[in-house]
Amino acid sequence: MILITGGAGFIGGNFVLDWLAQHNEPILNLDKLTYAGNLETLAAVQDDPRHIFVQGDIGDAQLVSRLLAEHQPRAILNFAAESHVDRSIHGPEDFIQTNIVGTFHLLECARAYYNGLQGQAKEAFRFLHVSTDEVYGTLAPDAPAFTEQHRYEPNSPYSASKAASDHLVRAYHHTYGLPVLTTNCSNNYGPYHFPEKLIPLMIVNALAGKPLPVYGDGMQVRDWLYVKDHCSAIRRVLEAGQLGETYNVGGWNEKPNIDIVHTICRLLDQLRPRADGRSYAEQITHVTDRPGHDRRYAIDAHKIERELGWKPVETFDTGIAKTVQWYLDHPQWVANVQSGAYREWVSKQYTQE
Ligand code: NAD
Ligand code: DAU
Repeated sequence: MILITGGAGFIGGNFVLDWLAQHNEPILNLDKLTYAGNLETLAAVQDDPRHIFVQGDIGDAQLVSRLLAEHQPRAILNFAAESHVDRSIHGPEDFIQTNIVGTFHLLECARAYYNGLQGQAKEAFRFLHVSTDEVYGTLAPDAPAFTEQHRYEPNSPYSASKAASDHLVRAYHHTYGLPVLTTNCSNNYGPYHFPEKLIPLMIVNALAGKPLPVYGDGMQVRDWLYVKDHCSAIRRVLEAGQLGETYNVGGWNEKPNIDIVHTICRLLDQLRPRADGRSYAEQITHVTDRPGHDRRYAIDAHKIERELGWKPVETFDTGIAKTVQWYLDHPQWVANVQSGAYREWVSKQYTQE
């Protein structure tokens, strides 16, 4: 049994589906179901006895301690977080509560649980913390990509809260010997991505005939990683990562935002042409830039490739084509997010612990 937190979110949800497709080992999924948690993503495993869902907060020490004692997981994988940079600018408090205070409580529970383990169970236990490249700050256009040695220079309330959580995880290893692993990855994209983030927002807005809001000049660079490649990296780090180490995960796909938006428009022009025959690119609108907007992120993923033999499978061309097709094939998932109907799944399908 492994315990994952945030498994109803974008990456956590993909991880649960992926894990159960590859393993027989059960998964205990602790998720608070904030606006970003969507149980419809997990519909395919709703009746799978290997998946146990619990609605709850990583900061609820009583609940977490009880779950650890009852289920005796061999690992905790911490995906749970407030993840959207724009929301952190407009209201940072939830980011501090979940990403810092929540991670602290989770670590405390993990430490007590780990101290009570014996023999092989203690030897095998892992706490894997999922983090971001944003902790490293912004890169000049010609600077080398972020390695694991790059200093932490977080610039948004979101990235500062993730940096704080990374430091806590590191300290629990150094001070208490908790067997931790940390991954810092670049921008993910793929199925079940909440349409507040760039790629799904552009697809959904384009199809709805709405403006495609590009912040500032659109020349900010992000480094894109297909979500299923991220899932395979996490599985590999869990399996073979060296205790106390951090691993950068990226897909070697640096692209300016404006290029991403044009690529999405081109794909939609082919796959779902506009009724008037014109290009979706006509919907692109430049809007005011994000305050403190980091100009460039780029991940150097040599360490995980060299030491753990992990490589991404998707190129950006294959990954973005699959992603656009997924959104075209799943209009109901999108519609339920937009109408808010996805929230009803909690009361309809699950009882609260
Ligand atoms: P997401 O916002 O889609 O999902 C977060 C999930 O965590 C949701 O299901 C939410 O309900 C749950 N959650 C929030 N607060 C919680 C709490 N206090 N207790 C329990 N559950 C809680 O996020 P995501 O994009 O899937 O990101 C997952 C992790 O990966 C985060 O830690 C994020 O910082 C990190 N990350 C994301 C990206 C990316 O591109 N999406 C890139 C790098 C790192
Ligand atoms: O780098 C990893 C990070 O990637 C993760 O840690 C975060 O959890 C995740 O949300 C993501 O952060 P970004 O801020 O990079 O993602 P977002 O999709 O919000 O924005 C991507 C880029 O696109 C960014 O430069 C801002 C820009 N953008 C975004 C939106 C939503 C726009 O130009 N227009 C938009 O409407």
